[in-house]
Amino acid sequence: MPAAPPPEILAAFEAAKGFMPADEGLALYAAAVTAGRLGLPLLEVGTYCGRSTLLLADAARRAGVTAVTVDHHRGSEEQQPGWEYHDPETVDPELGVMDTLPAFRRTLYRAGLEEHVLALVGRSPRAAALWQAPVGLVFVDGGHTDEHANADYEGWAPRVAEGGLLVIHDVFPDPVDEFTGQAPYRIYLRALASGAFTEVSATGSLRVLRRTGTGI
Ligand SMILES: C[S@@+](CC[C@H](N)C(=O)[O-])C[C@H]1O[C@@H](n2cnc3c(N)ncnc32)[C@H](O)[C@@H]1O
Repeated sequence: MPAAPPPEILAAFEAAKGFMPADEGLALYAAAVTAGRLGLPLLEVGTYCGRSTLLLADAARRAGVTAVTVDHHRGSEEQQPGWEYHDPETVDPELGVMDTLPAFRRTLYRAGLEEHVLALVGRSPRAAALWQAPVGLVFVDGGHTDEHANADYEGWAPRVAEGGLLVIHDVFPDPVDEFTGQAPYRIYLRALASGAFTEVSATGSLRVLRRTGTGI
């Protein structure tokens, strides 16, 4: 039976701002608990307000490792004012631009998980260029342009340790289903075509792959 989050963490996940449905959250959590057994950090690209980070943080707490989450906190293209996924509450009233960092910090604090998380604030490729350590899991949930998705794949997938997991969100094989572009689907195909990753599970738009070969 896959590992499930404790009720208070599931409640915090459901209360947090974000877009991930519960079934995908449960699949992400189970993957994070499995990957945590490698004793390596669990890394997320795309923090937003911390909805999915909570799950990685609790899995990291269970495993005695650290969850790392990367975001510039200025929102993706589809989250900007006037776009479908915009939430006016995420706009800094003084600057008039999105800032999801305060909401993220409140989410983590309320769940009592702050000490298990290292938050990197900035652009994903800049963080990836400096990050050399192997990780047990990479969860890609950042920008949805091909430029961003490919940069996330090329920057972080090389860090997935042997037996570790690469989890990709918003994989929509059918263009009818997608609202935010098919770039995540294309990096999912790229990972499979590389021969370095093998699919473990599919839940909604969440795909879990395991590193079974070298490279990307
Ligand atoms: C779909 S949201 C993440 C949702 C979050 N994982 C959750 O479940 O609630 C995508 C996030 O990626 C961030 N993002 C997009 N492109 C980025 C980049 N190049 N570097 C860092 N963060 C980026 C945005 O600021 C946004 O917060």
